[in-house]
Amino acid sequence: MLYDDLTVNEAGHLFINGADSLDLAKEFGTPLYVMDEDKLRSNCRTYVNAMNKYFTKGSRPLFAGKSLCFKGIYRIIDEEGMSADCVSPGEIYTAIQGGFPAEKIYFHGDNKTDDDIKFALDNKVGYFIVDNYNELNTLDAMAGARGIKQKVLLRVTVGIDPHTQKAINTGRIDCQFGVPIDTGQASDFVKACLAKKNLDLRGFHSHIGSEIFEPYPFMMQIDLLMKFANDMRGAYGFTAETLNLGGGFAVRYTESDPEIDIEGNIRELSEHLQRKSEEYDFPVPQILLEPGRSIVANAGTTLYTAGGVKEINGYRNYITVDGGMTDNPRYALYESPYTVVAAGRMNDACDFRCTIAGRCCESGDLIQENIMLPKAERGDIIAVLGTGAYNFAMSSNYNRVTRPALVFVKDGKGRLAVRRQTFEDLVACDL
Ligand code: LLP
Repeated sequence: MLYDDLTVNEAGHLFINGADSLDLAKEFGTPLYVMDEDKLRSNCRTYVNAMNKYFTKGSRPLFAGKSLCFKGIYRIIDEEGMSADCVSPGEIYTAIQGGFPAEKIYFHGDNKTDDDIKFALDNKVGYFIVDNYNELNTLDAMAGARGIKQKVLLRVTVGIDPHTQKAINTGRIDCQFGVPIDTGQASDFVKACLAKKNLDLRGFHSHIGSEIFEPYPFMMQIDLLMKFANDMRGAYGFTAETLNLGGGFAVRYTESDPEIDIEGNIRELSEHLQRKSEEYDFPVPQILLEPGRSIVANAGTTLYTAGGVKEINGYRNYITVDGGMTDNPRYALYESPYTVVAAGRMNDACDFRCTIAGRCCESGDLIQENIMLPKAERGDIIAVLGTGAYNFAMSSNYNRVTRPALVFVKDGKGRLAVRRQTFEDLVACDL
Protein backbone atom coordinates (compact mmCIF):
# COMPACT_ATOMS: atom_id res chain seq x y z
CA MET A 1 0.00 0.00 0.00
CA LEU A 2 0.97 3.62 -0.48
CA TYR A 3 1.52 4.12 3.27
CA ASP A 4 2.78 1.54 5.73
CA ASP A 5 -0.05 2.03 8.25
CA LEU A 6 -2.63 0.87 5.70
CA THR A 7 -3.34 -2.85 5.47
CA VAL A 8 -5.95 -5.11 3.93
CA ASN A 9 -7.62 -8.10 5.59
CA GLU A 10 -8.75 -11.33 3.95
CA ALA A 11 -12.22 -9.98 3.31
CA GLY A 12 -10.64 -7.12 1.35
CA HIS A 13 -11.30 -4.36 3.88
CA LEU A 14 -8.94 -1.41 4.19
CA PHE A 15 -7.50 -1.08 7.70
CA ILE A 16 -6.06 2.20 8.95
CA ASN A 17 -3.62 1.76 11.83
CA GLY A 18 -5.41 -1.44 12.80
CA ALA A 19 -8.98 -0.13 12.47
CA ASP A 20 -11.37 -1.50 9.85
CA SER A 21 -12.32 1.49 7.71
CA LEU A 22 -15.80 0.01 7.13
CA ASP A 23 -16.39 -0.11 10.88
CA LEU A 24 -15.20 3.49 11.22
CA ALA A 25 -17.62 4.53 8.47
CA LYS A 26 -20.45 2.72 10.24
CA GLU A 27 -19.62 4.09 13.68
CA PHE A 28 -18.97 7.72 12.76
CA GLY A 29 -20.79 8.12 9.43
CA THR A 30 -19.43 9.48 6.15
CA PRO A 31 -17.86 11.56 4.81
CA LEU A 32 -15.28 11.07 7.52
CA TYR A 33 -11.76 12.37 8.00
CA VAL A 34 -9.63 9.69 9.64
CA MET A 35 -6.27 10.66 11.13
CA ASP A 36 -3.80 7.98 12.17
CA GLU A 37 -2.50 9.35 15.45
CA ASP A 38 0.61 7.18 15.45
CA LYS A 39 1.58 8.23 11.94
CA LEU A 40 1.04 11.86 12.86
CA ARG A 41 3.24 11.45 15.93
CA SER A 42 5.93 9.64 14.03
CA ASN A 43 5.97 12.39 11.38
CA CYS A 44 6.49 14.94 14.18
CA ARG A 45 9.30 12.83 15.64
CA THR A 46 11.07 12.55 12.32
CA TYR A 47 11.44 16.34 12.26
CA VAL A 48 12.13 16.82 15.97
CA ASN A 49 14.78 14.09 16.11
CA ALA A 50 16.50 14.99 12.85
CA MET A 51 16.59 18.69 13.71
CA ASN A 52 17.97 17.96 17.18
CA LYS A 53 20.56 15.66 15.68
CA TYR A 54 21.79 17.81 12.82
CA PHE A 55 21.08 21.46 13.59
CA THR A 56 22.34 23.85 16.28
CA LYS A 57 20.74 23.72 19.73
CA GLY A 58 17.46 25.63 19.77
CA SER A 59 16.57 24.58 16.22
CA ARG A 60 13.02 23.26 16.00
CA PRO A 61 10.09 22.44 13.73
CA LEU A 62 6.95 24.58 13.89
CA PHE A 63 3.78 22.82 12.83
CA ALA A 64 2.06 24.89 10.13
CA GLY A 65 -1.50 24.86 11.43
CA LYS A 66 -2.85 26.14 8.12
CA SER A 67 -2.57 22.54 6.89
CA LEU A 68 -4.85 21.13 9.59
CA CYS A 69 -6.23 23.13 12.48
CA PHE A 70 -8.48 21.96 15.29
CA LYS A 71 -8.05 21.86 19.06
CA GLY A 72 -7.11 18.21 19.38
CA ILE A 73 -4.09 18.34 17.12
CA TYR A 74 -2.30 20.92 19.27
CA ARG A 75 -2.01 18.69 22.33
CA ILE A 76 -0.34 16.05 20.17
CA ILE A 77 2.13 18.37 18.50
CA ASP A 78 2.95 19.90 21.90
CA GLU A 79 3.58 16.44 23.36
CA GLU A 80 5.82 15.68 20.41
CA GLY A 81 7.95 18.73 21.13
CA MET A 82 6.91 20.91 18.22
CA SER A 83 6.26 24.65 18.19
CA ALA A 84 3.52 26.15 16.01
CA ASP A 85 3.18 28.55 13.10
CA CYS A 86 -0.18 30.33 13.28
CA VAL A 87 -1.43 32.64 10.55
CA SER A 88 -4.49 34.20 12.10
CA PRO A 89 -5.98 34.98 15.49
CA GLY A 90 -8.38 32.11 14.80
CA GLU A 91 -5.49 29.67 14.59
CA ILE A 92 -3.92 31.17 17.71
CA TYR A 93 -7.23 30.86 19.54
CA THR A 94 -7.63 27.23 18.44
CA ALA A 95 -4.09 26.37 19.54
CA ILE A 96 -4.53 27.98 22.95
CA GLN A 97 -7.94 26.38 23.42
CA GLY A 98 -6.25 23.09 22.59
CA GLY A 99 -3.85 23.67 25.51
CA PHE A 100 -0.89 24.75 23.39
CA PRO A 101 1.61 27.07 25.16
CA ALA A 102 1.41 30.55 23.62
CA GLU A 103 5.15 31.11 23.98
CA LYS A 104 5.72 28.35 21.41
CA ILE A 105 3.57 30.15 18.81
CA TYR A 106 5.05 32.09 15.87
CA PHE A 107 2.52 34.51 14.45
CA HIS A 108 2.55 34.90 10.65
CA GLY A 109 0.54 36.93 8.18
CA ASP A 110 0.91 39.66 5.57
CA ASN A 111 -1.89 41.74 7.03
CA LYS A 112 -2.12 41.53 10.78
CA THR A 113 -4.79 44.01 11.75
CA ASP A 114 -4.53 46.12 14.91
CA ASP A 115 -7.03 43.76 16.52
CA ASP A 116 -4.94 40.73 15.48
CA ILE A 117 -1.79 42.25 16.96
CA LYS A 118 -3.62 43.14 20.17
CA PHE A 119 -5.05 39.63 20.41
CA ALA A 120 -1.65 38.02 19.93
CA LEU A 121 0.05 40.36 22.43
CA ASP A 122 -2.74 39.86 24.99
CA ASN A 123 -2.24 36.12 24.63
CA LYS A 124 1.55 36.48 24.87
CA VAL A 125 2.51 34.62 21.70
CA GLY A 126 6.24 33.91 21.61
CA TYR A 127 7.23 35.46 18.30
CA PHE A 128 5.85 37.67 15.59
CA ILE A 129 7.08 37.05 12.07
CA VAL A 130 6.87 40.62 10.89
CA ASP A 131 5.90 40.93 7.25
CA ASN A 132 6.05 44.67 6.47
CA TYR A 133 6.63 48.21 7.73
CA ASN A 134 3.02 48.83 8.72
CA GLU A 135 3.14 45.88 11.03
CA LEU A 136 6.61 46.80 12.29
CA ASN A 137 5.47 50.27 13.35
CA THR A 138 2.16 49.16 14.82
CA LEU A 139 3.68 46.26 16.71
CA ASP A 140 6.44 48.43 18.14
CA ALA A 141 3.91 50.99 19.38
CA MET A 142 1.56 48.37 20.84
CA ALA A 143 4.40 46.45 22.53
CA GLY A 144 5.72 49.76 23.93
CA ALA A 145 2.30 50.61 25.37
CA ARG A 146 2.40 47.29 27.23
CA GLY A 147 5.97 47.82 28.40
CA ILE A 148 7.26 44.68 26.69
CA LYS A 149 9.99 43.92 24.22
CA GLN A 150 8.47 41.57 21.63
CA LYS A 151 10.64 38.90 20.00
CA VAL A 152 10.44 39.07 16.21
CA LEU A 153 11.75 37.53 13.01
CA LEU A 154 11.57 39.56 9.81
CA ARG A 155 10.07 37.93 6.74
CA VAL A 156 12.19 38.45 3.66
CA THR A 157 11.80 37.16 0.11
CA VAL A 158 14.79 35.46 -1.42
CA GLY A 159 13.37 35.27 -4.95
CA ILE A 160 13.60 31.55 -5.63
CA ASP A 161 11.23 29.75 -7.97
CA PRO A 162 11.19 26.15 -6.77
CA HIS A 163 9.05 25.21 -9.80
CA THR A 164 5.92 24.54 -7.87
CA GLN A 165 2.51 25.85 -8.75
CA LYS A 166 2.45 29.61 -9.09
CA ALA A 167 -0.34 30.15 -6.57
CA ILE A 168 1.61 28.51 -3.77
CA ASN A 169 5.01 29.78 -4.68
CA THR A 170 5.66 32.54 -2.19
CA GLY A 171 9.44 32.85 -2.42
CA ARG A 172 9.37 34.92 -5.60
CA ILE A 173 10.09 38.61 -5.34
CA ASP A 174 6.73 39.62 -6.78
CA CYS A 175 4.47 38.39 -4.05
CA GLN A 176 2.50 39.84 -1.17
CA PHE A 177 4.60 38.22 1.56
CA GLY A 178 7.70 39.71 3.12
CA VAL A 179 10.24 42.27 1.93
CA PRO A 180 12.60 41.46 -0.93
CA ILE A 181 16.35 41.18 -0.47
CA ASP A 182 17.18 41.84 -4.13
CA THR A 183 15.74 45.33 -4.25
CA GLY A 184 17.68 46.42 -1.17
CA GLN A 185 14.42 46.88 0.76
CA ALA A 186 15.04 44.02 3.18
CA SER A 187 18.23 45.69 4.38
CA ASP A 188 16.32 48.90 5.15
CA PHE A 189 13.68 46.81 6.90
CA VAL A 190 16.33 45.33 9.21
CA LYS A 191 17.71 48.79 9.93
CA ALA A 192 14.22 50.06 10.79
CA CYS A 193 13.59 47.08 13.06
CA LEU A 194 16.87 47.48 14.91
CA ALA A 195 15.91 51.09 15.66
CA LYS A 196 12.68 49.99 17.38
CA LYS A 197 12.94 50.09 21.16
CA ASN A 198 10.21 47.54 21.80
CA LEU A 199 11.22 44.87 19.31
CA ASP A 200 13.83 42.19 19.87
CA LEU A 201 15.06 41.03 16.46
CA ARG A 202 16.19 37.40 16.47
CA GLY A 203 16.59 36.62 12.78
CA PHE A 204 14.93 36.13 9.42
CA HIS A 205 12.19 34.07 7.87
CA SER A 206 11.55 33.10 4.29
CA HIS A 207 9.31 30.54 2.63
CA ILE A 208 10.01 29.44 -0.92
CA GLY A 209 6.97 27.31 -1.76
CA SER A 210 5.19 24.04 -1.14
CA GLU A 211 5.41 20.47 -2.42
CA ILE A 212 9.18 20.68 -2.94
CA PHE A 213 10.67 17.22 -3.47
CA GLU A 214 14.34 18.19 -3.63
CA PRO A 215 16.69 19.61 -0.97
CA TYR A 216 18.34 21.75 -3.66
CA PRO A 217 15.92 24.75 -3.57
CA PHE A 218 16.33 24.89 0.22
CA MET A 219 20.12 24.97 -0.24
CA MET A 220 19.76 27.93 -2.56
CA GLN A 221 17.57 29.53 0.07
CA ILE A 222 20.26 28.93 2.73
CA ASP A 223 22.85 30.50 0.42
CA LEU A 224 20.77 33.63 -0.01
CA LEU A 225 19.76 33.91 3.65
CA MET A 226 23.32 33.38 4.89
CA LYS A 227 24.63 35.99 2.49
CA PHE A 228 21.93 38.38 3.66
CA ALA A 229 22.65 37.62 7.34
CA ASN A 230 26.33 38.21 6.73
CA ASP A 231 25.59 41.49 4.92
CA MET A 232 23.40 42.61 7.84
CA ARG A 233 26.19 41.82 10.29
CA GLY A 234 28.52 43.94 8.15
CA ALA A 235 26.04 46.78 7.73
CA TYR A 236 24.53 47.05 11.22
CA GLY A 237 26.56 44.79 13.49
CA PHE A 238 23.49 42.55 13.91
CA THR A 239 24.20 38.81 14.05
CA ALA A 240 21.07 36.77 13.34
CA GLU A 241 20.68 33.88 15.77
CA THR A 242 17.81 32.25 13.85
CA LEU A 243 16.95 31.46 10.25
CA ASN A 244 13.46 30.16 9.56
CA LEU A 245 13.29 28.32 6.23
CA GLY A 246 9.48 27.98 6.18
CA GLY A 247 7.62 24.85 5.09
CA GLY A 248 7.35 23.01 1.86
CA PHE A 249 8.70 19.45 2.05
CA ALA A 250 6.59 17.40 -0.34
CA VAL A 251 4.67 14.21 0.38
CA ARG A 252 3.85 11.14 -1.64
CA TYR A 253 0.27 11.30 -2.88
CA THR A 254 0.50 8.47 -5.40
CA GLU A 255 2.74 5.51 -6.17
CA SER A 256 4.39 7.52 -8.94
CA ASP A 257 5.66 10.16 -6.49
CA PRO A 258 9.15 9.48 -5.13
CA GLU A 259 9.75 8.54 -1.49
CA ILE A 260 10.95 11.52 0.51
CA ASP A 261 13.77 11.14 2.99
CA ILE A 262 13.11 13.95 5.45
CA GLU A 263 15.94 13.03 7.80
CA GLY A 264 18.35 12.76 4.84
CA ASN A 265 17.24 16.15 3.51
CA ILE A 266 17.71 17.74 6.93
CA ARG A 267 21.18 16.24 7.18
CA GLU A 268 22.10 17.63 3.76
CA LEU A 269 20.77 21.04 4.70
CA SER A 270 22.74 21.05 7.95
CA GLU A 271 25.96 20.17 6.10
CA HIS A 272 25.29 22.93 3.62
CA LEU A 273 24.59 25.41 6.42
CA GLN A 274 27.79 24.39 8.16
CA ARG A 275 29.81 25.06 5.00
CA LYS A 276 28.18 28.46 4.52
CA SER A 277 28.78 29.41 8.15
CA GLU A 278 32.46 28.55 7.77
CA GLU A 279 32.68 30.46 4.52
CA TYR A 280 31.38 33.62 6.21
CA ASP A 281 32.88 32.87 9.60
CA PHE A 282 29.35 33.28 10.91
CA PRO A 283 28.05 31.46 14.05
CA VAL A 284 25.88 28.58 12.83
CA PRO A 285 22.32 29.88 13.23
CA GLN A 286 19.45 27.97 14.77
CA ILE A 287 17.15 26.66 12.08
CA LEU A 288 13.38 26.67 12.18
CA LEU A 289 11.26 24.73 9.70
CA GLU A 290 7.51 25.06 9.28
CA PRO A 291 6.23 21.73 7.96
CA GLY A 292 2.50 21.36 7.49
CA ARG A 293 1.78 18.96 4.65
CA SER A 294 4.59 16.54 5.55
CA ILE A 295 3.29 16.26 9.13
CA VAL A 296 -0.36 15.55 8.39
CA ALA A 297 -1.00 14.60 4.74
CA ASN A 298 -0.10 10.92 4.82
CA ALA A 299 -1.75 10.45 8.24
CA GLY A 300 -5.17 11.32 6.79
CA THR A 301 -7.75 9.33 4.85
CA THR A 302 -11.22 10.46 3.81
CA LEU A 303 -14.01 7.90 3.74
CA TYR A 304 -17.07 8.45 1.56
CA THR A 305 -20.15 6.41 0.76
CA ALA A 306 -20.77 5.91 -2.94
CA GLY A 307 -24.16 7.05 -4.19
CA GLY A 308 -23.89 4.94 -7.30
CA VAL A 309 -22.50 4.75 -10.79
CA LYS A 310 -23.49 6.79 -13.83
CA GLU A 311 -22.25 5.39 -17.14
CA ILE A 312 -22.51 7.88 -19.97
CA ASN A 313 -22.35 5.76 -23.08
CA GLY A 314 -19.47 6.71 -25.31
CA TYR A 315 -18.14 9.17 -22.73
CA ARG A 316 -17.18 8.31 -19.23
CA ASN A 317 -18.32 6.74 -15.99
CA TYR A 318 -18.90 8.60 -12.77
CA ILE A 319 -18.99 7.29 -9.23
CA THR A 320 -20.71 9.84 -7.00
CA VAL A 321 -19.81 10.22 -3.34
CA ASP A 322 -21.48 11.93 -0.39
CA GLY A 323 -18.79 14.65 -0.08
CA GLY A 324 -16.59 16.37 -2.61
CA MET A 325 -15.12 19.84 -3.07
CA THR A 326 -16.63 20.93 0.24
CA ASP A 327 -14.36 18.57 2.18
CA ASN A 328 -11.54 18.35 -0.40
CA PRO A 329 -11.33 21.33 -2.77
CA ARG A 330 -7.79 20.48 -3.90
CA TYR A 331 -8.67 18.70 -7.14
CA ALA A 332 -11.04 21.50 -8.14
CA LEU A 333 -8.39 24.09 -7.29
CA TYR A 334 -5.12 22.46 -8.31
CA GLU A 335 -6.00 19.16 -10.03
CA SER A 336 -4.11 17.52 -7.18
CA PRO A 337 -3.45 13.82 -7.61
CA TYR A 338 -4.77 11.40 -4.98
CA THR A 339 -4.90 7.66 -4.57
CA VAL A 340 -8.49 6.41 -4.41
CA VAL A 341 -9.50 2.90 -3.34
CA ALA A 342 -12.69 0.91 -2.78
CA ALA A 343 -12.28 0.37 0.96
CA GLY A 344 -14.47 -2.72 1.18
CA ARG A 345 -13.28 -4.39 -2.02
CA MET A 346 -9.53 -4.10 -1.84
CA ASN A 347 -9.00 -7.59 -3.26
CA ASP A 348 -11.30 -7.06 -6.27
CA ALA A 349 -9.94 -6.26 -9.71
CA CYS A 350 -9.70 -2.57 -10.52
CA ASP A 351 -11.25 -2.90 -13.97
CA PHE A 352 -13.66 0.04 -14.05
CA ARG A 353 -12.38 3.34 -15.42
CA CYS A 354 -14.17 6.18 -13.67
CA THR A 355 -14.24 9.71 -12.34
CA ILE A 356 -15.17 10.40 -8.72
CA ALA A 357 -17.68 13.23 -8.46
CA GLY A 358 -18.86 15.07 -5.37
CA ARG A 359 -22.33 16.18 -4.47
CA CYS A 360 -22.14 19.89 -5.21
CA CYS A 361 -24.05 21.57 -8.02
CA GLU A 362 -20.93 22.28 -9.99
CA SER A 363 -19.36 20.22 -12.76
CA GLY A 364 -15.89 20.94 -11.37
CA ASP A 365 -16.74 19.12 -8.16
CA LEU A 366 -14.47 16.17 -8.82
CA ILE A 367 -12.17 14.29 -6.48
CA GLN A 368 -10.18 12.48 -9.15
CA GLU A 369 -10.60 11.73 -12.86
CA ASN A 370 -9.88 8.76 -15.02
CA ILE A 371 -8.90 6.24 -12.35
CA MET A 372 -9.34 2.49 -12.09
CA LEU A 373 -11.52 0.99 -9.34
CA PRO A 374 -13.77 -2.03 -8.94
CA LYS A 375 -17.20 -1.02 -10.24
CA ALA A 376 -18.93 0.49 -7.24
CA GLU A 377 -22.40 -0.12 -5.95
CA ARG A 378 -24.52 2.28 -3.96
CA GLY A 379 -23.36 2.07 -0.34
CA ASP A 380 -19.75 1.06 -1.09
CA ILE A 381 -17.12 2.89 0.95
CA ILE A 382 -14.63 4.85 -1.15
CA ALA A 383 -11.40 5.95 0.53
CA VAL A 384 -9.16 8.78 -0.63
CA LEU A 385 -5.67 8.43 0.82
CA GLY A 386 -3.28 11.16 1.90
CA THR A 387 -5.95 13.77 2.62
CA GLY A 388 -4.63 14.94 6.00
CA ALA A 389 -3.32 18.27 4.70
CA TYR A 390 -5.37 21.18 3.36
CA ASN A 391 -8.62 19.20 3.21
CA PHE A 392 -10.34 19.76 6.55
CA ALA A 393 -8.45 23.07 6.72
CA MET A 394 -9.89 24.28 3.41
CA SER A 395 -13.32 22.70 3.74
CA SER A 396 -16.42 24.82 3.24
CA ASN A 397 -20.16 24.81 3.60
CA TYR A 398 -20.75 25.43 -0.11
CA ASN A 399 -24.23 24.26 -1.05
CA ARG A 400 -24.82 24.15 2.71
CA VAL A 401 -23.11 20.81 2.89
CA THR A 402 -22.14 20.11 6.50
CA ARG A 403 -18.48 19.57 7.37
CA PRO A 404 -17.52 15.96 8.13
CA ALA A 405 -16.41 14.65 11.49
CA LEU A 406 -12.73 13.93 12.15
CA VAL A 407 -11.55 10.92 14.14
CA PHE A 408 -8.14 9.92 15.41
CA VAL A 409 -7.32 6.24 15.09
CA LYS A 410 -5.08 4.58 17.63
CA ASP A 411 -4.85 0.99 18.88
CA GLY A 412 -7.36 -0.03 16.24
CA LYS A 413 -10.06 2.32 17.55
CA GLY A 414 -11.55 5.60 16.43
CA ARG A 415 -11.84 8.59 18.78
CA LEU A 416 -13.95 11.55 17.77
CA ALA A 417 -11.86 14.73 17.66
CA VAL A 418 -14.16 17.02 15.67
CA ARG A 419 -17.87 16.25 15.56
CA ARG A 420 -19.84 16.39 12.34
CA GLN A 421 -21.58 19.71 11.73
CA THR A 422 -25.32 19.76 12.15
CA PHE A 423 -27.94 21.75 10.26
CA GLU A 424 -28.21 23.90 13.41
CA ASP A 425 -24.50 24.73 13.02
CA LEU A 426 -25.22 25.85 9.48
CA VAL A 427 -27.68 28.50 10.61
CA ALA A 428 -25.99 29.30 13.94
CA CYS A 429 -24.63 32.65 12.71
CA ASP A 430 -27.65 33.59 10.62
CA LEU A 431 -29.80 36.26 12.29
N1 LLP B 1 5.14 28.33 6.23
C1 LLP B 1 4.64 29.27 5.41
C2 LLP B 1 5.03 30.65 5.58
C3 LLP B 1 3.72 28.90 4.42
O1 LLP B 1 3.22 29.82 3.60
C4 LLP B 1 3.34 27.54 4.29
C5 LLP B 1 2.37 27.13 3.27
C6 LLP B 1 3.90 26.60 5.18
C7 LLP B 1 4.80 27.03 6.14
C8 LLP B 1 3.54 25.15 5.14
O2 LLP B 1 3.91 24.55 3.95
P1 LLP B 1 3.78 22.97 3.74
O3 LLP B 1 4.85 22.30 4.58
O4 LLP B 1 2.41 22.56 4.20
O5 LLP B 1 3.98 22.78 2.30
N2 LLP B 1 -3.51 25.20 -0.01
C9 LLP B 1 -2.33 24.68 -0.67
C10 LLP B 1 -1.10 24.86 0.16
C11 LLP B 1 -0.77 26.29 0.44
C12 LLP B 1 0.47 26.40 1.25
C13 LLP B 1 0.73 27.80 1.62
N3 LLP B 1 1.77 27.98 2.54
C14 LLP B 1 -2.55 23.21 -0.98
O6 LLP B 1 -3.64 22.69 -0.69
O7 LLP B 1 -1.67 22.56 -1.54
